[in-house]
Amino acid sequence: MTAGVPRVVLIGPPGSGKTTVGRLLAQRLGVAFRDTDADVEETAGKAVAEIFVVDGEPHFRQLEREAVTTALASHPGVLALGGGAVMDEHTQRALEGYVAGGGAVVFLDVSLAHAAPRVGFNQSRPLLVGNPRARWVELMQLRRPTYERLATVHVVSDERPPQEVAAQVHAGV
Ligand code: S3P
Repeated sequence: MTAGVPRVVLIGPPGSGKTTVGRLLAQRLGVAFRDTDADVEETAGKAVAEIFVVDGEPHFRQLEREAVTTALASHPGVLALGGGAVMDEHTQRALEGYVAGGGAVVFLDVSLAHAAPRVGFNQSRPLLVGNPRARWVELMQLRRPTYERLATVHVVSDERPPQEVAAQVHAGV
């Protein structure tokens, strides 16, 4: 990471602890934390789950792309992206530019067994309805190569407490 305000983006699947670890990391670094799901909800005036149901996934992805682009360009600090954001090509290019500019991209990796209790697999996860566990595994398989390609740091969050994961991320960025 280059001098100045630390800039770190957290990527990874639902249940990897991006928001919890992101907040702790921001505290450690003395910078602000931001979450693109929260940005999308603020813009849309409704919850992510509701956007999926009422407006559809393509609309959510459009709002997400805009939220990510804005945050990457303007937020000095720690930023957590929604689990599927990295599958957008525009976002991939923006993340490559972010790294070229000295930012760090951290892949928070997790197994299904450890993601499950965090996710809860309830109805507030629109992409995981039906058979949530199978769907989570399917999405993770599809997205893993992209998480790995874009990340400059890879940390497994599994059974460790979030404070410890944040400390490891801190040491790596
Ligand atoms: C999604 C993950 C969610 C949220 C939306 C879609 C995904 O964010 O952006 O429900 O495609 O995996 P989290 O990864 O923070 O749960």
